[in-house]
Amino acid sequence: MKETMNETIELLMSHSSCRSFLDKPVPEDVADTIIQCAQHSPTSSYLQAYTIIKVEDNEKRRALAEFAGGQEWVEKAGLALLFCADLHRLDVMLDVKDKNVLHNEELYTVAVTDAALASSRALVAAQALGLGGVFVGGVRNETEKMAELFQLPEMVFPMYVVCMGYPAEVPPQRPRMDKSLISSVDGYPNIKGPEQLDNYEKAVSEYFLNITNGRSGRGWIARSEYAISKKPRYSVGEFLHKAGFMTASGPDEKSE
Ligand SMILES: Cc1cc2nc3c(=O)[nH]c(=O)nc-3n(C[C@H](O)[C@H](O)[C@H](O)COP(=O)(O)O)c2cc1C
Repeated sequence: MKETMNETIELLMSHSSCRSFLDKPVPEDVADTIIQCAQHSPTSSYLQAYTIIKVEDNEKRRALAEFAGGQEWVEKAGLALLFCADLHRLDVMLDVKDKNVLHNEELYTVAVTDAALASSRALVAAQALGLGGVFVGGVRNETEKMAELFQLPEMVFPMYVVCMGYPAEVPPQRPRMDKSLISSVDGYPNIKGPEQLDNYEKAVSEYFLNITNGRSGRGWIARSEYAISKKPRYSVGEFLHKAGFMTASGPDEKSE
Protein backbone atom coordinates (compact mmCIF):
# COMPACT_ATOMS: atom_id res chain seq x y z
CA MET A 1 0.00 0.00 0.00
CA LYS A 2 1.29 3.48 -0.86
CA GLU A 3 2.24 5.63 2.12
CA THR A 4 -0.49 8.11 1.23
CA MET A 5 -3.12 5.40 1.18
CA ASN A 6 -4.97 3.98 4.14
CA GLU A 7 -8.55 3.09 5.05
CA THR A 8 -9.58 6.66 5.77
CA ILE A 9 -8.09 8.09 2.58
CA GLU A 10 -9.58 5.26 0.58
CA LEU A 11 -13.00 5.97 2.04
CA LEU A 12 -12.74 9.69 1.28
CA MET A 13 -11.47 9.08 -2.25
CA SER A 14 -14.25 6.61 -3.04
CA HIS A 15 -17.15 8.93 -2.23
CA SER A 16 -20.17 8.79 -4.48
CA SER A 17 -23.65 9.99 -3.52
CA CYS A 18 -26.10 7.15 -3.04
CA ARG A 19 -29.79 7.64 -3.81
CA SER A 20 -31.01 4.06 -3.73
CA PHE A 21 -31.44 2.26 -0.42
CA LEU A 22 -32.32 -1.22 0.78
CA ASP A 23 -35.44 -1.54 2.86
CA LYS A 24 -33.32 -2.16 5.94
CA PRO A 25 -33.56 -0.04 9.07
CA VAL A 26 -30.56 1.87 10.39
CA PRO A 27 -30.03 0.69 13.99
CA GLU A 28 -30.26 3.27 16.75
CA ASP A 29 -26.61 2.88 17.75
CA VAL A 30 -25.48 3.46 14.14
CA ALA A 31 -27.56 6.64 13.90
CA ASP A 32 -26.25 7.74 17.26
CA THR A 33 -22.61 7.19 16.24
CA ILE A 34 -23.17 9.19 13.04
CA ILE A 35 -24.61 12.09 15.04
CA GLN A 36 -21.77 11.92 17.56
CA CYS A 37 -19.18 12.03 14.75
CA ALA A 38 -20.95 15.10 13.38
CA GLN A 39 -20.76 16.66 16.83
CA HIS A 40 -17.01 16.11 16.94
CA SER A 41 -16.42 18.27 13.88
CA PRO A 42 -14.34 21.40 14.30
CA THR A 43 -16.59 24.34 15.13
CA SER A 44 -15.86 28.05 14.84
CA SER A 45 -14.91 29.58 18.24
CA TYR A 46 -16.32 26.42 19.87
CA LEU A 47 -19.80 27.84 19.28
CA GLN A 48 -21.45 24.69 17.85
CA ALA A 49 -23.83 26.86 15.89
CA TYR A 50 -25.92 24.14 14.26
CA THR A 51 -28.73 21.74 15.05
CA ILE A 52 -29.37 18.26 13.71
CA ILE A 53 -32.96 17.04 13.52
CA LYS A 54 -33.49 13.32 12.97
CA VAL A 55 -36.63 13.00 10.87
CA GLU A 56 -38.52 9.85 11.82
CA ASP A 57 -42.12 10.83 11.21
CA ASN A 58 -43.37 9.45 7.86
CA GLU A 59 -45.56 12.46 7.17
CA LYS A 60 -42.64 14.79 7.69
CA ARG A 61 -40.47 12.66 5.41
CA ARG A 62 -43.18 12.78 2.76
CA ALA A 63 -43.45 16.54 3.07
CA LEU A 64 -39.67 16.96 2.76
CA ALA A 65 -39.55 14.73 -0.33
CA GLU A 66 -42.30 16.85 -1.86
CA PHE A 67 -40.57 20.13 -0.94
CA ALA A 68 -37.49 18.78 -2.75
CA GLY A 69 -39.49 18.30 -5.95
CA GLY A 70 -40.32 14.62 -5.44
CA GLN A 71 -36.94 13.20 -4.41
CA GLU A 72 -38.14 9.77 -3.30
CA TRP A 73 -34.92 8.84 -1.48
CA VAL A 74 -35.90 11.33 1.25
CA GLU A 75 -38.74 8.96 2.14
CA LYS A 76 -36.88 5.72 1.51
CA ALA A 77 -33.63 6.42 3.37
CA GLY A 78 -33.21 4.55 6.65
CA LEU A 79 -31.93 7.71 8.29
CA ALA A 80 -32.65 11.33 7.42
CA LEU A 81 -30.94 14.16 9.27
CA LEU A 82 -31.96 17.76 8.74
CA PHE A 83 -29.00 20.09 9.29
CA CYS A 84 -29.73 23.63 10.39
CA ALA A 85 -27.46 26.61 10.83
CA ASP A 86 -28.46 27.74 14.31
CA LEU A 87 -27.89 30.99 16.19
CA HIS A 88 -31.03 30.64 18.31
CA ARG A 89 -29.32 28.52 20.97
CA LEU A 90 -26.58 31.13 21.34
CA ASP A 91 -29.20 33.85 21.64
CA VAL A 92 -30.95 31.96 24.45
CA MET A 93 -27.84 30.76 26.30
CA LEU A 94 -25.49 33.71 26.11
CA ASP A 95 -25.69 37.15 27.56
CA VAL A 96 -24.14 39.07 24.69
CA LYS A 97 -23.99 42.82 25.30
CA ASP A 98 -24.26 43.72 21.64
CA LYS A 99 -27.37 41.70 20.64
CA ASN A 100 -26.88 43.01 17.12
CA VAL A 101 -23.79 40.88 16.71
CA LEU A 102 -25.84 37.69 16.33
CA HIS A 103 -27.52 39.24 13.32
CA ASN A 104 -24.41 40.08 11.33
CA GLU A 105 -23.02 38.35 8.25
CA GLU A 106 -20.04 36.97 10.16
CA LEU A 107 -22.16 34.86 12.52
CA TYR A 108 -24.36 33.74 9.64
CA THR A 109 -21.17 32.50 7.94
CA VAL A 110 -20.06 30.78 11.14
CA ALA A 111 -23.38 28.95 11.54
CA VAL A 112 -23.55 27.81 7.92
CA THR A 113 -19.93 26.63 8.04
CA ASP A 114 -20.48 24.74 11.30
CA ALA A 115 -23.54 22.98 9.91
CA ALA A 116 -21.70 22.13 6.67
CA LEU A 117 -18.73 20.65 8.51
CA ALA A 118 -20.92 18.61 10.85
CA SER A 119 -23.04 17.27 7.99
CA SER A 120 -20.00 16.34 5.94
CA ARG A 121 -18.62 14.32 8.84
CA ALA A 122 -22.02 12.66 9.33
CA LEU A 123 -21.94 11.35 5.78
CA VAL A 124 -18.33 10.17 6.08
CA ALA A 125 -19.17 8.38 9.33
CA ALA A 126 -22.17 6.74 7.67
CA GLN A 127 -20.00 5.60 4.78
CA ALA A 128 -17.41 4.21 7.20
CA LEU A 129 -20.20 2.12 8.73
CA GLY A 130 -21.24 0.68 5.36
CA LEU A 131 -24.07 3.09 4.62
CA GLY A 132 -24.42 5.38 1.63
CA GLY A 133 -26.06 8.73 1.43
CA VAL A 134 -26.83 11.96 -0.32
CA PHE A 135 -27.35 15.57 0.65
CA VAL A 136 -30.72 16.96 -0.39
CA GLY A 137 -30.65 20.73 -0.65
CA GLY A 138 -33.73 20.65 -2.85
CA VAL A 139 -35.79 21.02 0.34
CA ARG A 140 -34.85 24.72 0.31
CA ASN A 141 -37.46 25.11 -2.44
CA GLU A 142 -39.74 25.46 0.58
CA THR A 143 -37.57 26.82 3.36
CA GLU A 144 -40.45 28.65 5.02
CA LYS A 145 -42.58 25.48 5.04
CA MET A 146 -39.69 23.52 6.53
CA ALA A 147 -39.46 26.02 9.36
CA GLU A 148 -43.20 25.59 9.97
CA LEU A 149 -43.07 21.79 9.75
CA PHE A 150 -40.33 21.54 12.39
CA GLN A 151 -41.49 24.59 14.38
CA LEU A 152 -38.11 26.21 14.08
CA PRO A 153 -37.56 29.35 16.12
CA GLU A 154 -36.05 32.48 14.62
CA MET A 155 -32.33 32.39 13.79
CA VAL A 156 -32.52 28.76 12.65
CA PHE A 157 -31.91 28.05 8.97
CA PRO A 158 -32.82 24.54 7.71
CA MET A 159 -30.11 23.94 5.09
CA TYR A 160 -30.55 20.40 3.81
CA VAL A 161 -31.40 16.84 4.68
CA VAL A 162 -28.68 14.20 4.61
CA CYS A 163 -30.39 10.95 3.59
CA MET A 164 -28.55 7.78 4.54
CA GLY A 165 -29.13 4.05 4.46
CA TYR A 166 -27.78 0.71 3.39
CA PRO A 167 -27.10 1.08 -0.33
CA ALA A 168 -29.07 -0.86 -2.92
CA GLU A 169 -26.88 0.64 -5.61
CA VAL A 170 -24.04 3.15 -5.58
CA PRO A 171 -23.39 4.93 -8.87
CA PRO A 172 -19.85 5.16 -10.26
CA GLN A 173 -17.91 8.21 -9.09
CA ARG A 174 -18.60 11.51 -10.79
CA PRO A 175 -15.40 12.87 -12.32
CA ARG A 176 -13.99 16.03 -10.75
CA MET A 177 -12.50 19.10 -12.38
CA ASP A 178 -8.74 19.21 -12.90
CA LYS A 179 -7.01 19.93 -9.60
CA SER A 180 -5.22 22.96 -11.11
CA LEU A 181 -8.57 24.78 -11.50
CA ILE A 182 -9.65 24.09 -7.93
CA SER A 183 -6.44 24.44 -6.00
CA SER A 184 -3.30 26.55 -6.33
CA VAL A 185 -0.25 27.70 -4.43
CA ASP A 186 0.17 31.16 -2.91
CA GLY A 187 -2.50 32.77 -5.05
CA TYR A 188 -5.67 32.31 -7.04
CA PRO A 189 -5.65 29.61 -9.76
CA ASN A 190 -5.25 30.62 -13.40
CA ILE A 191 -8.89 30.78 -14.52
CA LYS A 192 -9.21 31.93 -18.15
CA GLY A 193 -12.31 30.44 -19.70
CA PRO A 194 -14.42 27.42 -20.58
CA GLU A 195 -11.77 26.13 -23.02
CA GLN A 196 -9.86 24.96 -19.93
CA LEU A 197 -12.72 22.52 -19.35
CA ASP A 198 -12.57 20.74 -22.71
CA ASN A 199 -11.28 17.45 -21.31
CA TYR A 200 -13.52 17.68 -18.30
CA GLU A 201 -16.58 18.29 -20.47
CA LYS A 202 -15.78 15.09 -22.36
CA ALA A 203 -15.30 13.08 -19.16
CA VAL A 204 -18.59 14.34 -17.67
CA SER A 205 -20.50 13.76 -20.87
CA GLU A 206 -19.15 10.20 -21.09
CA TYR A 207 -19.99 9.58 -17.45
CA PHE A 208 -23.63 10.58 -17.89
CA LEU A 209 -24.00 8.77 -21.23
CA ASN A 210 -22.81 5.69 -19.40
CA ILE A 211 -25.14 5.92 -16.40
CA THR A 212 -28.19 6.96 -18.47
CA ASN A 213 -27.70 4.32 -21.18
CA GLY A 214 -27.00 7.01 -23.72
CA ARG A 215 -30.00 9.22 -22.88
CA SER A 216 -28.14 12.27 -21.55
CA GLY A 217 -24.67 13.36 -22.55
CA ARG A 218 -24.64 16.93 -21.27
CA GLY A 219 -21.34 18.13 -19.86
CA TRP A 220 -20.56 19.97 -16.64
CA ILE A 221 -21.14 23.44 -18.10
CA ALA A 222 -24.68 22.77 -19.33
CA ARG A 223 -25.55 20.91 -16.14
CA SER A 224 -24.26 23.69 -13.93
CA GLU A 225 -25.97 26.44 -15.95
CA TYR A 226 -29.22 24.52 -15.66
CA ALA A 227 -28.75 23.81 -11.95
CA ILE A 228 -28.25 27.43 -10.95
CA SER A 229 -30.84 28.86 -13.34
CA LYS A 230 -33.79 26.51 -12.89
CA LYS A 231 -34.23 27.24 -9.17
CA PRO A 232 -32.60 30.51 -8.20
CA ARG A 233 -34.43 30.29 -4.82
CA TYR A 234 -34.51 33.99 -4.08
CA SER A 235 -36.99 33.01 -1.36
CA VAL A 236 -34.06 31.67 0.70
CA GLY A 237 -32.77 35.24 1.12
CA GLU A 238 -36.22 36.42 2.14
CA PHE A 239 -36.49 33.58 4.65
CA LEU A 240 -33.07 34.34 6.13
CA HIS A 241 -33.88 37.99 6.71
CA LYS A 242 -37.30 37.18 8.15
CA ALA A 243 -35.67 34.65 10.48
CA GLY A 244 -33.30 37.36 11.72
CA PHE A 245 -30.11 36.43 9.88
CA MET A 246 -27.98 39.25 8.48
CA THR A 247 -30.30 42.01 9.65
CA ALA A 248 -27.67 43.93 11.64
CA SER A 249 -26.92 47.39 10.36
CA GLY A 250 -23.71 47.71 12.37
CA PRO A 251 -22.59 47.69 15.99
CA ASP A 252 -25.44 48.22 18.42
CA GLU A 253 -25.12 51.80 19.61
CA LYS A 254 -26.70 50.93 22.94
CA SER A 255 -23.98 48.42 23.76
CA GLU A 256 -20.90 49.34 25.77
C1 LIG B 1 -25.39 20.97 -0.18
C2 LIG B 1 -25.72 19.89 -1.17
C3 LIG B 1 -27.02 19.77 -1.66
C4 LIG B 1 -27.34 18.75 -2.54
N1 LIG B 1 -28.63 18.59 -2.94
C5 LIG B 1 -28.98 17.53 -3.71
C6 LIG B 1 -30.34 17.29 -4.04
O1 LIG B 1 -31.25 18.04 -3.67
N2 LIG B 1 -30.62 16.18 -4.75
C7 LIG B 1 -29.66 15.31 -5.17
O2 LIG B 1 -30.00 14.30 -5.81
N3 LIG B 1 -28.35 15.52 -4.89
C8 LIG B 1 -28.00 16.60 -4.18
N4 LIG B 1 -26.69 16.80 -3.83
C9 LIG B 1 -25.65 15.85 -4.29
C10 LIG B 1 -24.83 16.43 -5.43
O3 LIG B 1 -25.59 16.44 -6.60
C11 LIG B 1 -23.56 15.58 -5.60
O4 LIG B 1 -22.79 15.64 -4.42
C12 LIG B 1 -22.73 16.07 -6.78
O5 LIG B 1 -23.41 15.93 -7.99
C13 LIG B 1 -21.42 15.27 -6.88
O6 LIG B 1 -21.71 13.89 -6.96
P1 LIG B 1 -21.11 12.88 -5.90
O7 LIG B 1 -21.51 13.32 -4.52
O8 LIG B 1 -21.70 11.55 -6.26
O9 LIG B 1 -19.63 12.90 -6.08
C14 LIG B 1 -26.33 17.84 -2.98
C15 LIG B 1 -25.03 17.98 -2.51
C16 LIG B 1 -24.72 18.99 -1.61
C17 LIG B 1 -23.31 19.10 -1.09
